[in-house]
Amino acid sequence: MILVTGVSSSPGYKIALKLSESYDVIGIYNEHPVANINSIKYDLTKDPEKIIELYKPELLVHTAAIGNVDLCEENRDFCYNINVNTSRRLLLKAKQMNTKIIYISTDYVFDGKRGMYKENDTPAPINYYGLTKLVSENIALSMYGTVVRIAAVYGMGYGRANFGKYMVDKLSKNEKIDAAKDQFLSPTLNTQIGEAVKKIFEKDFNGIIHISGPRLSRFDFALKMCQVFDFDRSLVNPVSIDSFKFKAPRPIDSSLDNMLGENVTGIKLSDSNKSIEIFKGEYYAI
Ligand SMILES: NC(=O)c1ccc[n+]([C@@H]2O[C@H](COP(=O)([O-])OP(=O)(O)OC[C@H]3O[C@@H](n4cnc5c(N)ncnc54)[C@H](OP(=O)(O)O)[C@@H]3O)[C@@H](O)[C@H]2O)c1
Repeated sequence: MILVTGVSSSPGYKIALKLSESYDVIGIYNEHPVANINSIKYDLTKDPEKIIELYKPELLVHTAAIGNVDLCEENRDFCYNINVNTSRRLLLKAKQMNTKIIYISTDYVFDGKRGMYKENDTPAPINYYGLTKLVSENIALSMYGTVVRIAAVYGMGYGRANFGKYMVDKLSKNEKIDAAKDQFLSPTLNTQIGEAVKKIFEKDFNGIIHISGPRLSRFDFALKMCQVFDFDRSLVNPVSIDSFKFKAPRPIDSSLDNMLGENVTGIKLSDSNKSIEIFKGEYYAI
């Protein structure tokens, strides 16, 4: 049995969906129920150990976290309680019960001064969210868990609004969007994260691994969307990241080197046109 926390998040849902093709999966959500996955409502902050004791999973994929970067910056105790305290208790119990651990982490553990970070580069988060995720990465690693770093997740399914879907929603109605020319990241399709996590589990990979798309500015990502979806590219307005008034600082270039991720999973994560084609199919299927 596999337990997936954060099943109502964009990556968590697709991870659970993919794993449930081959395994018994139970997803944990808190406020947002999901369809098509065997799942339960459970507030992990209350008694995280109990859920591991109850199900004795073979694998725990720990995706639940406060992923809203600005919310974390402003509500630090709230964020720390879930992203660190709850994670620590859950992961410790998993280790005690001989449950394998996959901890879902983020490109935001890096400061973004250089970009194309490899798995063994030194993290240096510049916002509180990144700091809490880094602390829990280290907890997971100390429990012999695997850390899967993902980035700028887009796609269909569940979870908070994501940049990819927002863009297509607007551009398909011929509405203009702003996209930063000077922020670089590795937009990653949630469906491919699901496939990759299944491969990582089945190959018994241990350590840190980056599952991410190619390095792109948000502006170039938007233009790729226009190309694949056949939207008018003049609707995409190039702006500076400084025009967005974020509460938490953002890394300027948090792109991830995904060579290990591609080699281990065999998934062509760098081919953004192919990823966007998959996304397009899912967008119009719904
Ligand atoms: N989004 C991205 O672009 C991105 C990039 C890199 C890494 N990540 C990582 O991916 C994961 C999901 O991120 P996200 O941004 O998609 O997150 P999100 O939209 O903030 O979703 C958070 C998830 O955690 C669950 N959760 C929160 N508090 C909980 C609690 N007390 N008890 C049980 N479940 C709780 C939520 O359940 P409910 O919604 O049901 O309350 C939801 O499924 C995180 O680990 C994040 O660090 C995301």
